[in-house]
Amino acid sequence: MDKLLVHGDSTLQGSINISGSKNASLPILASTLLSSQASIVRRVPDVSDTNYMLQILRALGAEVERSSGTVRVEPSTISPEAPYDLVRKMRASICVMGPLLARVGRAKISLPGGCIIGDRPVDLHIKAMQGLGATVEMEGGDIVLSAPDGLVGAEIDMRGKHGPTVLGTDNLMMAATLARGTTVIDSAASEPEVVDLADFLVKMGARISGAGTRRIVVEGVEQLKGVEHNIIPDRIEAGTFMVAGAMAGEGVTLKRVRADHLGAATDILEEAGHGVKFNSDGTEVHITPGASPKGCDISTAPFPGFPTDMQAQFTAMFATTPGISVVEDTIFPQRFMHCSEMKRMGAEIKVDGGSALIRGVTNLSAAPVMASDLRASAALVLAALRARGTTEINRLYHIDRGYEHIDEKLLQLGAKVERVPA
Ligand code: EPZ
Repeated sequence: MDKLLVHGDSTLQGSINISGSKNASLPILASTLLSSQASIVRRVPDVSDTNYMLQILRALGAEVERSSGTVRVEPSTISPEAPYDLVRKMRASICVMGPLLARVGRAKISLPGGCIIGDRPVDLHIKAMQGLGATVEMEGGDIVLSAPDGLVGAEIDMRGKHGPTVLGTDNLMMAATLARGTTVIDSAASEPEVVDLADFLVKMGARISGAGTRRIVVEGVEQLKGVEHNIIPDRIEAGTFMVAGAMAGEGVTLKRVRADHLGAATDILEEAGHGVKFNSDGTEVHITPGASPKGCDISTAPFPGFPTDMQAQFTAMFATTPGISVVEDTIFPQRFMHCSEMKRMGAEIKVDGGSALIRGVTNLSAAPVMASDLRASAALVLAALRARGTTEINRLYHIDRGYEHIDEKLLQLGAKVERVPA
């Protein structure tokens, strides 16, 4: 297991390219199963989560080739059983459920692995498939779904107690493309990754309207064709490096971004006193640290609200921002594993219920810390950039799940980091 050494006297400048979105790639790769024809997906980030998804597609019988960011999937014949040893490694493997059920009328998915950010139920996914007429049974840790006579469109409300579900919306939208009749998805997630999936499905011949709103309508069709697609930029990676530029930069530029996906992060960075400037077509952003930054309050919400996947990174920034900041996570109220590790570095944070109260300190101090979930681990790297001494971040595999070559990108910006085998 690799670890990352981060030397705290790093000053970042220069530019990097942001990779394709992990969270758009995963459902889009799963949705290639909806056709027997080959699809080509470009800008798939080389991270362990997408590599797991490719292994699952291979295990289901698809032919899969990858060369750098371009993936070719040919699912001419597939089996309905996703392999337990792969599915348990990644929650997002649940998004083969909809495509399998729609394509072969049956799906056997192991309950996805738990996640350190809190409870990860799948009740809304099951509700969606039942809503389309599938029967669902639990068999020894597996979810077994069947619809031998095909799926039938319906109106289904996908709202859970914490709001819309991103992958639940994806699963229902994918399954509905081949259902008989019309499906209406109420309380749909409107994240950019859901829109990118809808764009991919429409290219395949699906009839979808309303993606990006809370109400998506899908007219079922007989079959779908293979297509080519470029994945949208990863807005969470972009947000992570925007924070790095605000915390430890002297002018950092991020290329291959989408300004319309970064509104919430931009608003908070500007409210905190930092400079955020996009180029004319919104594909590049330049970050300059504020002369006298101040604390802010954040409450996460479904898109276009502040993303839960960025609250840990902003907590790292507030840990060395003068003043008091409050970060509330309404989507994953337990997602505060990073706070205890940052406190080992001298951060002043009090976690209470679904919120963290942060009092900024001048500098953190290096300490050996343990990565936990994907975004919490990235937040520790950011905190380490502003810590005296060299911070050792263990269990780097958490970061490698969702950040493509994070150490190489940091080095390109002048950070003093090194990846060492543990
Ligand atoms: C997606 O997860 C993302 N993952 C997560 O990013 C992200 O944090 C999350 O959406 C919220 O934006 C991918 O896209 C691969 P949800 P997802 O279903 O779809 C509850 C990262 O760091 N819920 O939108 O699994 C759930 O407990 C990852 O890249 C139910 O109650 O999340 C949560 O409180 C972490 N029942 C809320 O809904 C269900 O059946 C939102 O979860 C499903 C979800």
